[in-house]
Amino acid sequence: MADLIRLFLLQGAFTKAKLQEIFGQELFSTLCSLGLLIQRGEDWASRIDLFAVAGLYVATDHRYMILPEDEIEEDVVMYVGMDSTGLVHTAPQYPANRVLDLCCGSGIQSLVASRYTKEVVGVDINPRAIRFARFNAQLNGISNTHFCLGNLYETTSGYFDTILANPPFVPSPSQECRFRDSGVAGEEILARIITESANHLAPLGKLFIVSDLVNIQQYESKLEQWWQGGAADKLVLSTADRNDILFSVPHCHTAFNQTWEQYNIELDEWLQNFHTSGLRTVNFGYILICQVDSTSKSSYYSRTIHNPNQPIHQYVQEYFQQRQLIQEQQINNYFLAMSPDLRFRLEISSTTGEREIELFSPNNPYFTTYQISEQMYRMLQDINHSQPKWETYATALNQNWLYELIYKGILYLSPQATTVKQNRRLKVPPSTEGLKIEELETKTTPTCISSYLH
Ligand SMILES: C[S@@+](CC[C@H](N)C(=O)[O-])C[C@H]1O[C@@H](n2cnc3c(N)ncnc32)[C@H](O)[C@@H]1O
Repeated sequence: MADLIRLFLLQGAFTKAKLQEIFGQELFSTLCSLGLLIQRGEDWASRIDLFAVAGLYVATDHRYMILPEDEIEEDVVMYVGMDSTGLVHTAPQYPANRVLDLCCGSGIQSLVASRYTKEVVGVDINPRAIRFARFNAQLNGISNTHFCLGNLYETTSGYFDTILANPPFVPSPSQECRFRDSGVAGEEILARIITESANHLAPLGKLFIVSDLVNIQQYESKLEQWWQGGAADKLVLSTADRNDILFSVPHCHTAFNQTWEQYNIELDEWLQNFHTSGLRTVNFGYILICQVDSTSKSSYYSRTIHNPNQPIHQYVQEYFQQRQLIQEQQINNYFLAMSPDLRFRLEISSTTGEREIELFSPNNPYFTTYQISEQMYRMLQDINHSQPKWETYATALNQNWLYELIYKGILYLSPQATTVKQNRRLKVPPSTEGLKIEELETKTTPTCISSYLH
């Protein structure tokens, strides 16, 4: 395993004898004839990186094309990054007829989607990406994916239940890295994907995108402007804002062979672009849009998560279901419950005796850490213990707080009370005075070498 990691992820080189020992004579010859193993001086190395991800093998170009034999005349195909795996963990995983994977690159999103979809179409503007994606489908024995060369929607036909996109999304002073750069403000391709999606989505279709989020406070109005698809629930999952320095520095680090002067020149370019393009902060996260029945109201909500390193798609699906439930009259017969993934953390100052209360989840990236007031703590405890019916608990005063906690996934509506504690009776819903909850930011996806070697 260590040798395979060195060979396929760290650009290590081995003697021919060692590789023949690892693969056997015949497979070694096959890998050489495919151009997958190549000679480096006396030794042999891999021409590609191979990621083991989501139960699949995904081959793609090296993240750092730094050796003489790495030089190619085409655009490089993107490595499997934390944005790639983040979208894998967030995208819907229930049966669908057709899924479109825009900007498919190595094909990772398509390959995962093929498990629950009759037909997946992957599109990329880079011919090398299409070849990698087709190779990866074969490598994994997948036959219901079709990869087409094209500029976003230009070559697609028909309608899709879900459109997935991990587009180039970085606001950049350069246009050199075509899998990364998306204009000086980062939204060139993102805006096109959202605006044109309505012409390609089936009724009640979904659009799931991973992207940098530039000036995140403006997303409600940006989506209002870009989205042309009628009634929809829009959810933005974000991580943390990066200012000019935090955003620019990782993009200027070149792994290996960069002088201090070169680094400084690049940093100046990125900082200047940040300032002249109207960027105030660059967050990172997910834009998720679900079309709803035309009789339903549209909604927008933005909340904080940890970039998912494990599946959160069920929680995302539940968010959209709860949204719909809240619109229905039957809500009165539903019970309120608290997510079992959450924990309280109480800290008491030894000097003042003051209590600080946090709500957090030790291992569910769908939640961040929330600082809550004493009153909020008591209300959540009450709900947790008594699992009240909506009609007995919701009042004109506390209703908006309850919605807010449902949108955050902290509370949920269930057709039945789920625990034995349900018989504990609440006298009256507590007052809403002093209720407070503050969502703390999480870490953004690092774009530096440390994330690769981690
Ligand atoms: C960030 S990579 C995503 C790769 C892959 N989907 C993943 O999740 O790892 C973006 C991809 O978009 C492709 N691309 C850039 N502009 C495009 C366009 N106008 N139409 C289609 N693909 C495009 C690039 O070639 C690149 O493969």
